[in-house]
Amino acid sequence: MDISSFDPRLIAALRSANRVAVLTGAGVSAESGIPTFRDAQTGLWAQFRAEDLATPEAFRRNPRLVWDWYAMRREGVVQAAPNAGHLALVELERQVTSGDGTFALITQNVDGLHAAAGSRTVIELHGNIRRVKCFDCGRIAQRWEPTSDRPPRCADCGGLLRPDVVWFGERLPADALDAAWAAAGACDMFLSIGTSGLVEPAASLPRAALRHGATVLTINLDVETRAAPPRFDIHGKAGMVLPALVTA
Ligand code: APR
Repeated sequence: MDISSFDPRLIAALRSANRVAVLTGAGVSAESGIPTFRDAQTGLWAQFRAEDLATPEAFRRNPRLVWDWYAMRREGVVQAAPNAGHLALVELERQVTSGDGTFALITQNVDGLHAAAGSRTVIELHGNIRRVKCFDCGRIAQRWEPTSDRPPRCADCGGLLRPDVVWFGERLPADALDAAWAAAGACDMFLSIGTSGLVEPAASLPRAALRHGATVLTINLDVETRAAPPRFDIHGKAGMVLPALVTA
């Protein structure tokens, strides 16, 4: 892929962009070997029932099942490395902020790979699987003693520890959500990458950016490549398209 692969109006919009906001989903980490959620065969929700594993009710019903499932996922995450898509976003941030531009990276991913790649302004909308928090007192911990108890218990109140991720039916962290809306409302260029756009409120962010007059680019495997400025869609893998786009 090279500059000729892209609509010249998109390249012009990217070059002149001064306030960039990016929304990422599981598709960005797929090339790092982390399964997405809704891919027909390999997606987590094709293999497991979300209501048995990713809700507060499921945790109350069977805390060990939920803890073990997230421990299995965490194992996969800590062994994964950022891919070319993550690294291209680090480069885009550097380019945009080298002048007086602003850049915000809003992610639904809980894998921490954007920060691991070197992204500086990451807004984690759905939490981070590398942290835990107490189900009772809410105390967040980066480290916890692996004990025979699964889940282990909170050092403060003795409550059960759970992954610090947002489960279905739970509120998003208010500060992250406010920052995401602010970035989408103020940007002149919005990139939506590797998300099915099925989960709110994240799914509404590209529309908010469009309403504020931003150019919106979607990179995904379930869109057809088309240009209808200010909207641009590119069918392709994030790890292929992003490096070429950022170089262009
Ligand atoms: N490059 C670009 N897009 C990709 C790639 C890739 N290499 N691989 C898959 N995709 C696309 C898929 O076509 C799909 O549209 O990424 C999207 C992944 O969608 P989902 O699996 O639904 O993941 P996501 O949108 O991040 O889910 C949102 O749902 O389950 C909850 O909390 C969870 O944060 C998650 C939220």
